[in-house]
Amino acid sequence: NGQVNPSTRIDCYPQPGSNQQTCQSRGCIWDSNFDSSNPTVPLCYLPTDTGYTGANGAPGTYILTKKAGSFVNPYGADSGHVIVSSQSIGKTLNVRFVDQSFANRYEPPIGIPKNPSLSNEVLQFNPNSVGTQDPFYFTVTRSNNGRNLWDTSIGGLVFSDKFIQIATHLPSKNVYGFGEAIHPSIRHDFSRYTTWAMFARDEAPDSAADLDTKNLYGVHPFYICVESEDGKAHGVFILNSNAQEVTTGMGPHLIYRTIGGMLDLYFFPGPTPEEVVNQYLALIGTPMLPAYWSLGFQLCRWGYQSLQDIQAAVNRTQAAGIPLDVVFSDIDYMNHDEDFTTGSAFAGLSQYVDQLHDQGLHVTLIFDPAIEVDYDTFQRGLAQGARFIEWPASYPVPSTNSLYPMTANTKIMLGAVWPDRHTAFPDFLDETGATDQWWAGEFSTYHSKIKFDGIWIDMNEPSNFGTNQASSGHEGIAPLACPLTGSNNALDSPPFQTQAVYLFGNGNYLSTKTLCMLGKTGGGSYDFYDTKNLYGWSEARATQKALNTATGKRGVVISRSTFPSAGRYTGHWLGDNTARWEDLRTSVIGAMEFNFFGIPYVGSDICGFIGIPTMELCLRWQQMGAFHPFSRNHNIAGTPPQDPAVWPLVAAAAKKALLFRYHYLPYLYSLHYDATLYGHTVLRPLFFEFPSDSATLTLDKQFLWGSAFLITPVLTEGAESVDGYFPSGANNDEVWYSIYDFNYAQATPPGPNQLPAPVTSMIPVHVRGGYILPRQAPATTTTAAKTNPFELLVAIKGARGAGTAQGQLYWDDGEASPSAVDGTYNYYKWNFAYSETPMGAQLTLQRVNTVNGMSVPTLDIIELFGYKFSPSFQSFALDGNPLTLNMSSSFYNGPL
Ligand code: NOJ
Repeated sequence: NGQVNPSTRIDCYPQPGSNQQTCQSRGCIWDSNFDSSNPTVPLCYLPTDTGYTGANGAPGTYILTKKAGSFVNPYGADSGHVIVSSQSIGKTLNVRFVDQSFANRYEPPIGIPKNPSLSNEVLQFNPNSVGTQDPFYFTVTRSNNGRNLWDTSIGGLVFSDKFIQIATHLPSKNVYGFGEAIHPSIRHDFSRYTTWAMFARDEAPDSAADLDTKNLYGVHPFYICVESEDGKAHGVFILNSNAQEVTTGMGPHLIYRTIGGMLDLYFFPGPTPEEVVNQYLALIGTPMLPAYWSLGFQLCRWGYQSLQDIQAAVNRTQAAGIPLDVVFSDIDYMNHDEDFTTGSAFAGLSQYVDQLHDQGLHVTLIFDPAIEVDYDTFQRGLAQGARFIEWPASYPVPSTNSLYPMTANTKIMLGAVWPDRHTAFPDFLDETGATDQWWAGEFSTYHSKIKFDGIWIDMNEPSNFGTNQASSGHEGIAPLACPLTGSNNALDSPPFQTQAVYLFGNGNYLSTKTLCMLGKTGGGSYDFYDTKNLYGWSEARATQKALNTATGKRGVVISRSTFPSAGRYTGHWLGDNTARWEDLRTSVIGAMEFNFFGIPYVGSDICGFIGIPTMELCLRWQQMGAFHPFSRNHNIAGTPPQDPAVWPLVAAAAKKALLFRYHYLPYLYSLHYDATLYGHTVLRPLFFEFPSDSATLTLDKQFLWGSAFLITPVLTEGAESVDGYFPSGANNDEVWYSIYDFNYAQATPPGPNQLPAPVTSMIPVHVRGGYILPRQAPATTTTAAKTNPFELLVAIKGARGAGTAQGQLYWDDGEASPSAVDGTYNYYKWNFAYSETPMGAQLTLQRVNTVNGMSVPTLDIIELFGYKFSPSFQSFALDGNPLTLNMSSSFYNGPL
């Protein structure tokens, strides 16, 4: 009778209102035995005969027709003709389900490079039940061990215009990724059914909730799965920009639903998690290279009342000797929250920015996408042919639009954000280029007044206040009302709306907090319904261009909303967290996940955005945040200052942690180069390096910089010590040298360790034997540190293994060249060859690539960890030529 055991069900009623009657009226199976110990098990589930029959189509393709089954799709007419095809892009396997009965099916216009991936393993696509009456399914297998990575024989395939669903068994419960959401653990919880919505939304994460499945600012339909004890991993990316959701169930299995577009699935063979990310980024594009200065510490808050407030915060930070590179201003600096204007309380901003530049500091300003409709920036946009999100041509212009003088026939959709009047939303998908050009022009004009270096783009889900409510709640501005009922409601009230709506309860719609779904984007080509998740992505693309044009430099953009491949243009902060220990903890996970998503330049609001941190929380957050690529303290308006200099103890901890970070900036920068050139992660969880050590699969309280640097932050209140895990490695020869407390004569033994971590000492940092790390003596700005002599830390496996050590450095001017890909960088490789005889070991320094005229400091210090002989017996070679070093200077004994 088609009954399915509770652990492998596919929910037939993935919306509120499930009961026996509503369930059975869909032709689904109702289970009247509610099990209170497993309350998330769907009681209404799909019969196993749901699906399509498959027939051979053109070579390599399959034609699916709806199989008669008991399930009646309540979300629209089933497609009669789905074409399935597969193709390889290098070692990436692409499986597409395209519907031919719906004309001009939408695909996200994100122009990803789709470069072929490399791997020593192969994936196979196996269509099944072709030519039979059984439901069509397919498997994706790993060729060399026959393991099924996907197996859709679980059933549940549905393909209709506004409801598409596919389900699969999974090879293991070790699943990571999907975003943007707060994940309480880095590995997903398969002890229950959980649905994660993916629809960009201006939503503050709630880390204190038991389980907060809310969709946040960005959308990332990508996951990594470590398949079994062998540690092999694969990845899956679903290229779709509609509102969508994923359910994970106990099976383990996964159900994916989207309300538009098509199924465009990409499978990455790994076999290591890091390779999965490399393969994913070959497809979608590798991340931008942030300017060197943006690796410095950054000070921000919302609610500076005047320029003097900024100056006071900067002065006390500098007086405390805390490294500082970037000074931010939030919307406070604007005149009435209008982009490209300066308010009178910030009249001296331009001169102040010049002064900061003289000190080697840099400045990032916020710009919101919502443009007030009654000032010159907007007027210039209209005059220059820039497009804004519009109502459809046939739609009657709502009365709000007549509140402001508009050009004839304009149907710009107006909303309410920070400015005092209605705002319009630039259409960055406009392919004529006029919108991007106007945007860049506005930045250039403003830059001629204030020489900002970086751009912070916020509210770009896009956020809109009070949509569909009685009041926008802002400055008396009439709210935007979407056609939720009536003849034009097809996009604003689709039959299935995803958890992005249901989770928030009655009175919520896809358009809640944003614009109406029937809006037009791409100069009229697309429905906002399809492209809403691309808004931040498209703004980031336009803004990076604008920044490069305005400043002539690389700079850096930080965006709140992101989509796959946004990393090419921008970094990301994790949004409006709260000053709570839970948020400190989840920010460690969030930063690792954004590295999976190809946006490695990421960080959280240090000390918490909402609420008031205790001194201890702020101290621990400063210590941890010193190891996030984007390291910025930020705070909501109306709360007391929380910059590190506010408390002497926090100041001391921040100074220590940041000086340590600044010491290793050449290593961090080189990791970003590897990300840009090869799609590597910068910050990664331990299972990325040790996937076959099953103890690492759940570790989400420690993280690595690249392969070599392990950070063990303190994430709990009142802690005097912290637990960490130190993998012994597949060959049982890993060595972890403690470098935070200068106590590196002894390596921390492999396995679990409890390490001392009083507030007065740094959080534990360990370097892994086998690596050579470049560093420079620190300073209080990156600008100054960048000119200091180089040092090498050579950490060898020593007594635990005879191994060599390797390292590398990428070096460039740090900001002038717009990207790394043009090759304007120096590249060095180092190798330490171990020998049991004192004279035998050799350190080889290789200049692989050098650019004329690049200024490079000298290498003054070489520090060796774990070698049993005195280094005065070493031999050195530079580019193959023996090198004489004054060994007395090659030992480094100064403070870190
Ligand atoms: C929301 C952002 O998430 C936050 O960081 C910012 O301070 C406020 N908008 C004000 O601009």
